[in-house]
Amino acid sequence: MINFKQYIASKLDLPISVDEVANLIVPTADETKGDYSLPCFRFAKELRCAPQAIASNLANQLAQDNYIDRAEAVNGYLNVFVKKSATVVDIIDEINSQGDSYGKSTIGAGKTVCIDYSSVNIAKSLHIGHLGTTAIGNSLYKLYQNLGYNVVGINHLGDYGTQFGKMIVAYTLWGDDDVIAKGGAKALQDIYVKYHVEAEKDPTLDDQARQWFVKIEKGDAEATRLFNYFKQITLDDVNKTYKRLNVTFDSWNGESFYNDKMDRPLQMLRDAGIVTESQGAQVVDLEAYNMPPCLLVKSDGSSLYATRDLAAALYRKETYNFDKCLYVVAYQQALHFKQLFKVLEMAGFDWAKDMVHVSYGMVSLEEGAMSTRKGNTVFLEDVIERAVAKSYEIICNKNPNLPNKQQIAEQVGVGAVIFSAVENARIKDITFTFDRVLSFEGETAPYLQYTHARCNSIINKAGVGALAKISPNVDALDNAETLSLAKLLGNFNQIVLDAATKYEPSILAKYLIDVAQAFNRFYIAHRVIGEDAATTKARIGVVTATKTVLANGLNLLGIQAPDQM
Ligand code: ARG
Repeated sequence: MINFKQYIASKLDLPISVDEVANLIVPTADETKGDYSLPCFRFAKELRCAPQAIASNLANQLAQDNYIDRAEAVNGYLNVFVKKSATVVDIIDEINSQGDSYGKSTIGAGKTVCIDYSSVNIAKSLHIGHLGTTAIGNSLYKLYQNLGYNVVGINHLGDYGTQFGKMIVAYTLWGDDDVIAKGGAKALQDIYVKYHVEAEKDPTLDDQARQWFVKIEKGDAEATRLFNYFKQITLDDVNKTYKRLNVTFDSWNGESFYNDKMDRPLQMLRDAGIVTESQGAQVVDLEAYNMPPCLLVKSDGSSLYATRDLAAALYRKETYNFDKCLYVVAYQQALHFKQLFKVLEMAGFDWAKDMVHVSYGMVSLEEGAMSTRKGNTVFLEDVIERAVAKSYEIICNKNPNLPNKQQIAEQVGVGAVIFSAVENARIKDITFTFDRVLSFEGETAPYLQYTHARCNSIINKAGVGALAKISPNVDALDNAETLSLAKLLGNFNQIVLDAATKYEPSILAKYLIDVAQAFNRFYIAHRVIGEDAATTKARIGVVTATKTVLANGLNLLGIQAPDQM
């Protein structure tokens, strides 16, 4: 693909190198003022000439050719208009020659990224609060993989803690295996909720729970059996939802995996001289960093969430030798990760700088926040189910003869739910409303999927066969709508890189909306089918490239792109 900044720079006679000139050239915001612009003020001193005179001298150096249409000097700027059709052909041919690989790169080759995401707790089903971490984490997984990184997806299971003592008490009192077999993790959650109601009236339940927890810790056979049973029920349950979302993990090592792996990292911290005693507990004092102390061992000798994360960080470094370790976790845990990373740094682990808390905002319902204990949870599975049912209805109305309606409805409904979690900058809080998520108009996944399917149907209707290269200087492409669309399509690589390096899939989501809108403007303004053969062929090239970018982009968000809708 032509690099216009380099191309223009190479035609200009200036006292600095072509690369330096290229770096000074910027895309013009206002298309009526050209496509690229070079400010000439900084040359004035050296050339002993007014910026405007330099600009007009440079304008004269740019003769019309295959790529350049004309140049103008305005207020000390050199404004360059590129030849629309040549530019379009250049970009479109490149995209169409790369196809499915367009947007891929190898900049991550030989490097590893660990991504901790979704990380569910045992005896709970996935709820709407898990949507952010699951969708953002999954998209980052795909983005990094697409850049050639080796990616390790980790579901750091919450499978350790006093709550499992409570679960066992609840189960022995009210557990029914048949109900649990049918209801899965939700049935476990029901008796867990009941436990909290009953424990308010009968505090002896908490004593029993403590005893059971001690038994779990000591490896008592019955306690272990029950714990493993809860774990299996939960994993079977969440895996159904992950399957619908097309989300996978490479490791399920959670908190309990580190039961026997905490001594060594703790000793390393002691050796580094950063562990102090405070009321019988072992802590790392972080006052110098304006943070509360990081509690690592309680006075009764038990470990904490932070101790397990400490062990997990070391384990990940030693096992995967990551270049980056990302934690996609809600911003409520910001302090926890700041403390963890600081402690690792104080212990002398230089890789502490490679740990990143990728935080994101809260999802709340219109009625208010959710609390699992109170039992008004909105399960992710139910949200997906409703989204799919509604998509099915819409498809039946719009396109009753579509084959595989159920399958397409699944792709559309799931896509709409995922998109709702990646469309906004991560840090934003989201108020979840079904209407917004399921809206088929506006800036939604169904809109992107529909535009993609439309591209596909245009291509099929045109029947121009396998797409050879567009011949250069096709007048049919010499217009503003086509050029804007092509320029956007040509930015895809940069967008993918930005989204990954800023851990921000929303950059890609917003870009795809821009692409779909630019495509629709192009399609309204220019007939593709029914023109002369050369025009149709050239425009089909543009439609094909658009389809490629939408499909590859949706895929990187974890959203499917059906060919028909
Ligand atoms: N299970 C935790 C929760 O639900 C999230 C775990 C995040 N990962 C980690 N390594 N701490 O809040």
